[in-house]
Amino acid sequence: MINKDNNLPDLVNITGEWDRAKRYTSLHDVSAYALETLKSHVAHAPWRLNYHIQPPCGLMNDPNGFCYFEGHYHLFYQWFPLGPVHGLKHWYHVKSKDLTTWEACGVALIPGEDLNSHGAYSGSGFVLNDELHVFYTANRRDENWQRSCSQVIAKLMPNGLIETVNDAIPTIPNEYTEHFRDPKVWQEDDQYYAIIGAQRADDNAGTCALYVSDNGIHWHSLGELNTALSAFGYMWECPDYFCLEDHGHTYGVLIFSPQGIEADGDKYQNIYQSGYLVGSVLSLPSLDYTHGEFHELDFGFDFYAPQTTLTPDGRRILIAWMGLPEIDYPSDKDGWAHCLTLPRELKLIQGKVAQCPAKELQGLRQEVLYQGYVNHQSIIGRSAHFELILTDESGFESFELDLFASEPNVLDNEQQVDQKLTIRYEQAKQRITIDRRAAGTPFATEYGTTRSYTLENPLTHLQLFGDTSSFEGFFNQGEATASLRHFSDNNNNTLIWHGNKASAILWQY
Ligand code: FRU
Repeated sequence: MINKDNNLPDLVNITGEWDRAKRYTSLHDVSAYALETLKSHVAHAPWRLNYHIQPPCGLMNDPNGFCYFEGHYHLFYQWFPLGPVHGLKHWYHVKSKDLTTWEACGVALIPGEDLNSHGAYSGSGFVLNDELHVFYTANRRDENWQRSCSQVIAKLMPNGLIETVNDAIPTIPNEYTEHFRDPKVWQEDDQYYAIIGAQRADDNAGTCALYVSDNGIHWHSLGELNTALSAFGYMWECPDYFCLEDHGHTYGVLIFSPQGIEADGDKYQNIYQSGYLVGSVLSLPSLDYTHGEFHELDFGFDFYAPQTTLTPDGRRILIAWMGLPEIDYPSDKDGWAHCLTLPRELKLIQGKVAQCPAKELQGLRQEVLYQGYVNHQSIIGRSAHFELILTDESGFESFELDLFASEPNVLDNEQQVDQKLTIRYEQAKQRITIDRRAAGTPFATEYGTTRSYTLENPLTHLQLFGDTSSFEGFFNQGEATASLRHFSDNNNNTLIWHGNKASAILWQY
């Protein structure tokens, strides 16, 4: 790294103005000392998580390059190291043997070459000739700030850095606008395929393009995926395609993050969406994909740009960004933003994708803080890092559950607390509502303060994960999930039940 200690005060001034020059500073132009100073500042910031993947400083967004290679799960993420803004995107690398504890490997992709002068955007990972390769979008802008990009094959070198192997798709096909990115690779019958998110040039609608390669290095266009969604948003980011089995049948699942979908009742409440289609198995080179309707993957406030990989024992695991673009988060003031979701296993149940926490997460369970029944008004425990399972085999009656709550003033009826994240269930409607109104520092309130979801089945099982400033709820063993951030400043983190009898177990994490 070039030593430029004189820019240290500027960088540490993380709440200052982020002009273009600052946003487009790469780690090549920052001293190791400046970066360490930022990291140690962030390490002492409030709201840091205990068991989620989060950036050491700066802003993270999409998970990238998720794959299993030589005994480890490798995961990278979009990273602007120098502050809580969407600046020059680097890739940061973490790895894990068990999807649970992650080892920091440091920055892997530092943009700044001609090819990726304005950022190493999202992409995927795959193993080729016993080496970890990635296929990613190298982003550029010209002097008029006009964007262009390449889709680049690169590989992880022994020094921990990702180096370009081939500028595989050097220009954007005429059919698409500058919004053409996020290649996701899979291997099938000795061929490699990639699906790329795109915006059509003729009608500015979101879509996906397909590519094929017989060596993983040189790629050829197959054309555009034929879906029934010809006008569904203006851009499909981060597509991912894979197969799932259900009752002996194989289905093709397409995940993508469409932009430009209007809110519709409880659906599509966030600024941008992430969801899936279940349909026919793609039999490439035919581009036809018949499918059912689009379903959101998660009904929480903060979930975007998921990516999946396959485990050695054949499970399809998804990790998403627990954040959204174009929103300021309360942790920004301390120079960091965002985290990733926990890994989830995907299954097809009754034609829909069900998501359960990866079984490895049980390894994070520490002491049992509570085990038994809850009834009426009960304090289940106090913890900021927990897993809570609640069950009622006969179906829950209506209830409210407060998490991350300040200490109640009165211990019996009508417990009043100042701060809480509330999960509410209306039995008659089978409807879950998550209420973030009183959950601490408000943010993104222009997109509403509650999110709701109507289940197809009566609610019998909740599995909830809390971590300082995150919440992930799995309802009915993955029938619905909700992921969100919350920024409370009470130190009590009380879990309070208001409802009828249910069985509960609470672990410290
Ligand atoms: C999704 C996204 C991708 C892009 C990346 C840039 O959040 O916009 O489409 O590659 O983030 O950081």
